[in-house]
Amino acid sequence: MNQAYIQNFAIIAHIDHGKSTLADRIMEQTNTVSQRERKNQLLDSMKVEQDHGITVKSRTVRNYYHGEDGHEYEYNFIDTPGHVDFSYEVSKSLAACDGAILLVDATQGVQAQTVANFRLAKQNQLSIIPVINKIDSESADIEKTVNQIQQLDQRFSHSTILMISAKTGQNIHDVLEAIYQRIPAPTGNLVAPLKALVFDSIYDPFKGIIAYVRIYDGRLNANQHLKLMADNTEFTSHQLGVFTPNMKESKQLSAGDVGYVTTGLKDSQLIQVGDTLTSCEHPTNKPLPGYQSAKSMVFAGFYPKDDNYKELKAAIEKLSLNDSSFHYMEEVSEALGPGFRCGFLGMLHLQIIRERLANEYHINVLTTAPNSIYHVYLKDTPDQSPLIITNPVKFPKFSKINYVEEPYVKATITTPADSMGAIMKLVDQHLGTLLDMSNQGDLIVLIYKIPISEIAYNFFNKLKSDSHGYATLDTSFLDYELTDVVKISIHINYAPVDALDTVVHRQDSEKIAQGIVKKMKYAVPRRLYPMPVQAFVEGKSIARIDVPPLRKNAAVNGEKHSISKKQQLLHRQNINKRQAAQSDIKLPQSVFNAILETD
Ligand code: GTP
Repeated sequence: MNQAYIQNFAIIAHIDHGKSTLADRIMEQTNTVSQRERKNQLLDSMKVEQDHGITVKSRTVRNYYHGEDGHEYEYNFIDTPGHVDFSYEVSKSLAACDGAILLVDATQGVQAQTVANFRLAKQNQLSIIPVINKIDSESADIEKTVNQIQQLDQRFSHSTILMISAKTGQNIHDVLEAIYQRIPAPTGNLVAPLKALVFDSIYDPFKGIIAYVRIYDGRLNANQHLKLMADNTEFTSHQLGVFTPNMKESKQLSAGDVGYVTTGLKDSQLIQVGDTLTSCEHPTNKPLPGYQSAKSMVFAGFYPKDDNYKELKAAIEKLSLNDSSFHYMEEVSEALGPGFRCGFLGMLHLQIIRERLANEYHINVLTTAPNSIYHVYLKDTPDQSPLIITNPVKFPKFSKINYVEEPYVKATITTPADSMGAIMKLVDQHLGTLLDMSNQGDLIVLIYKIPISEIAYNFFNKLKSDSHGYATLDTSFLDYELTDVVKISIHINYAPVDALDTVVHRQDSEKIAQGIVKKMKYAVPRRLYPMPVQAFVEGKSIARIDVPPLRKNAAVNGEKHSISKKQQLLHRQNINKRQAAQSDIKLPQSVFNAILETD
């Protein structure tokens, strides 16, 4: 299609403001999906998305729209996730677009992710169409929402803001008209050498890695010899096509188009999201700017539960390809054997990856307690760059440490005024420092500096519960700063269990250590004899509890057995004990949860 009639845009919004519902309406009204295919939330097809009711992966769809001006337009839109953990997906998608629909829920108004996504769209120089959704709802406050949108950017005059109900379909036509009227068409050079952005990828067992691309210049044909510019990886395009929303083969993609190309590559390390694709014969001389790789904020060990290391490895490789913000490396634990240290954007991301492994690959993993990343400066090498610690097992001995830094984020919390007290108390408990406070209509905006480790685990849920669901959170990385942390090592039956190591703030260490051993009392599988569980910090035992034995000790309990019966029991018990001591303690997931659940 002539580039002048192509529109590439994203739908961006705060979580639950209705992006996926609007995407469904657009697909219906452009007849992209037939009546038969219509069901709610066409795009949130992954099981985890349906279970949680949220979008996790961006989706790309090509639609054809007959404009009132008589032209037929090609609308390529990308539906993006709204949860703070997945903002990396949003920024990836925006790099492939020329415009964005900024959707705001009239019952909630502008929220933290609305502001964050609006900024991302502006950074990418996208044309933004502001749209107010859920106008059918009784609790919609349209005037207030209009004011809030105008505070974002004064150029959004009243008449430029569209009012819709994605649920009932009201005024969706206005959105479809506004897209070609307000979003600029791509301006790529069709005859220049091929220049395409790889903005996503998936793994197909038959076709290998499939790259999702936006073509900026030139043309991409089937059976073309191609090159990924970052590492000069070469391949031949066997198949290419567009998303309707399922993959549909086509002969050519040209400047302005969004589509896919099969690479035949099997090794996930060979392709990076953000890379530039060009032709081997006539390569472009300058790659596209690409984008920064995602920074992992939370780390945890994944270990096979049922002797299926190979399957786990294959599944992790494929998942990382489909989710470029998920990182991993191999590691070996004394207690758990070979496994993987994985990096996530946040706790929800960790949970989603675990569920995807279970749903899509039928693999249940043992997950160690998550931790942050630490920069450890040693005493004997003061001028050296720090040790980067993502696994508490590797945390150096305290006597060797000069000082430690950990990542801090700027946390923007928007809350109704009546929850402000509870929220300030919560953030205080989590070592946050207030940087700024302002009003946004009826809402209070609190800006904090806070260690990532303090908000990574359960903070979001507590924030929601303290504000009856109304407070929102947006975070952005600030810097590494000095921190006072210690490692808690857990010993079970006098032996250290490396997989249970955890790094915490010194001021909370005692409380956390006591909480862990208390939980361990019920989580550690019992033996025939009592077993101590101890928590050590800097060489000192700071908490201890005894796991009770499996059953009463025949020899010491005054049960009414004859002497010979007692001796018989004692003998059997000793054999069991010896056998038990030989086999390692198998740690169930609940042991690791004991650390997680201790706040
Ligand atoms: P994430 O993908 O999780 O970020 O959510 P989303 O922005 O895609 O929101 P989604 O489309 O899943 O909608 C969230 C909820 O709002 C669903 O229960 C929808 O049925 C509801 N909803 C969406 N649009 C409207 C609307 O116009 N009116 C009303 N009343 N409800 C709506």
